[in-house]
Amino acid sequence: MDEVRMNSTTLGVFAWTELEREEGKYRFDWLDDVFELINSNGKRIILATPSAAPPAWMSRAYPEILRTGPDRVRRLHGNRVNFCWTSPVYREKVRSINEQLAKRYGHHPALMLWHVSNEYGGECFCELCAQAFREWLKARFEGNLEAMNQAHWTRFWSHRYTDWSQIDIPGNPYGETANQGLSLEFKRFTTDQIVAFYRAEVGALRKHNASVPVTTNLMGFYGGLDPWKLAPYLDVVGWDSYPQFRDQPIDVRGWAKAALTHDLTRSLGGGKPWLLMECSPSSSNWYPVMNLKPPGMHLFETLQAVAHGSDSVLYFQWRQSRGGQEKFHGAVVATGQDNTSRVFSDVSQTGSALDSLSAVAGSTTTSDVAILYDWDNAWAIDGACGPVQGNKRYFETILDQYVPFWEAGISVDVISQECEFGQYRLVLAPMLYLLRDGTAERMRQFVEGGGVLLTTYMTAWADEHDLTFAGGIFSPLAELFGIRVEELDALYPEQKPCVVLPRGSHFGVEGAFEVLGFAERIHVLDAEVVGSYGKFWYGEEPAITRRFVGKGEAIYVGARLGHDFNEPFLNSLAASLNLRRNYDAPTPAGVTVQRRVGRESEFLFLMNAADKQAHLAPPERPAVEILSGKPVSHGITLPPYGVAVLRLE
Ligand code: GAL
Repeated sequence: MDEVRMNSTTLGVFAWTELEREEGKYRFDWLDDVFELINSNGKRIILATPSAAPPAWMSRAYPEILRTGPDRVRRLHGNRVNFCWTSPVYREKVRSINEQLAKRYGHHPALMLWHVSNEYGGECFCELCAQAFREWLKARFEGNLEAMNQAHWTRFWSHRYTDWSQIDIPGNPYGETANQGLSLEFKRFTTDQIVAFYRAEVGALRKHNASVPVTTNLMGFYGGLDPWKLAPYLDVVGWDSYPQFRDQPIDVRGWAKAALTHDLTRSLGGGKPWLLMECSPSSSNWYPVMNLKPPGMHLFETLQAVAHGSDSVLYFQWRQSRGGQEKFHGAVVATGQDNTSRVFSDVSQTGSALDSLSAVAGSTTTSDVAILYDWDNAWAIDGACGPVQGNKRYFETILDQYVPFWEAGISVDVISQECEFGQYRLVLAPMLYLLRDGTAERMRQFVEGGGVLLTTYMTAWADEHDLTFAGGIFSPLAELFGIRVEELDALYPEQKPCVVLPRGSHFGVEGAFEVLGFAERIHVLDAEVVGSYGKFWYGEEPAITRRFVGKGEAIYVGARLGHDFNEPFLNSLAASLNLRRNYDAPTPAGVTVQRRVGRESEFLFLMNAADKQAHLAPPERPAVEILSGKPVSHGITLPPYGVAVLRLE
């Protein structure tokens, strides 16, 4: 561990059977030894609670703790994260083991953080959860069943409930799958149950020492939990990053996705430094293809997280196990290997880099741009029957809009509908189908106050209950954008209308851009037309509009367009707003730049995500490249996956 400069270690994730082999009989001797070993070597410990994998004796003795699937079949013991969120027995068992851990180690000098459970996720459909769901609904609608019926439009298909007890959890393949409002509520309920479960775990830990910080490892854009609801209860936010490359090893978009998720994590923590809680030093056994990381890629991957605000690089896992599901998963020390392995030296390289970057710790990032990705919205879009079946590509649309900023070295925050908009100059809110009460008004204030708001097709169709707006789609935003949206055309792949931006268009972008699947027919009430349809039966109807309102601007893109449009359009928008780019000289394709600002210094991370060497001119201010310790004089050459970290003087 010293050789790779490892200064902390996570212990005890999934260790329940080792801690409590029989009910109530705890054994801590082995963990005491590990604590002692780590502490005496001057390292710190992140101690996990074991709730992610209950022991077999518990499942046998208390079957109610096991999770039930949507088919209402109780799962058998095994796997992990296979427990019920509601079961009072499970909550009690978790409380007692957590209290035992807290009592024994809560004041240990080596303990620096609680790692609560592991990657909370999944839904439970058991009767205890169904009952809790009914209670949750009753509270949400203040006991007014008729209000719930109205909100979920239950007169349709005779779905009206006349008693709370009739409500079952939706999503059973043989049961209710056609009440979208109720399905949305179940997603929200599950998030609330997970948050309550987490808070109960933390309550037990805090009984013995409330000053040790707590967190849990999040999963980025994982759809089963709205992380904005959990984040306020985490002392530091973190996530587990395993960038995957499905079709090709060198996939710049794959790195963009990792970058976007790092930005989400930073934003969830209010911009403070966050933790990369897991990554693999090598390959991951669940990858479709267990491709090895070529030289430099591991350093790139870890420093990319640091560039986007992480103050740690933690691994899953230190030593590879010889058995079990993950025996082929990458590890710092693989079975039969020692400190001479390629992977070990990759990890040492990261360790040395982190050592030299110690001044970066604590520094933060501020962004002028925010992209809005909202979990309620994602659930509602997924659940909607239309305008196409299957993936409506909400996440991909977010990524499409992120990439041009990432490539241009412009920092981006990722926000939810409930975050403040006012601190940004530009907010991108594509496909915001579900518009909560008050959002339209907050958007108006943002634009009037000088913000630029961009939205797209499939926005403001439904309220928080998934009821379409009585005034028609987009009606809550019609006045702000000065347009009326009449209808959306979902296109077959061979139908290719285009959007034409004429020469001299407002954004300096011109040409014809192919529409990819979605086109809305809109009417201009009080806005400028930036682009119009061409080559299709819509004639030259407007497709892209802008409206100046107060000190700001509202931009509408009515059709799904590709990178050929997004890149020049968003770049030109960024230039017209004079948005801060992290690097003053031009950057070659594949090279991205992130900025972190500390109390005393400013750091620029220059990263080459491509498999070709790249050259950059030196920055305008004098700078030192920290990894090599050399001043930057003539320019910077980055090999494939090369990273340079500049401290500006
Ligand atoms: C994570 C999980 C770890 C390990 C890892 C393998 O999702 O938290 O326990 O399974 O994946 O990639």
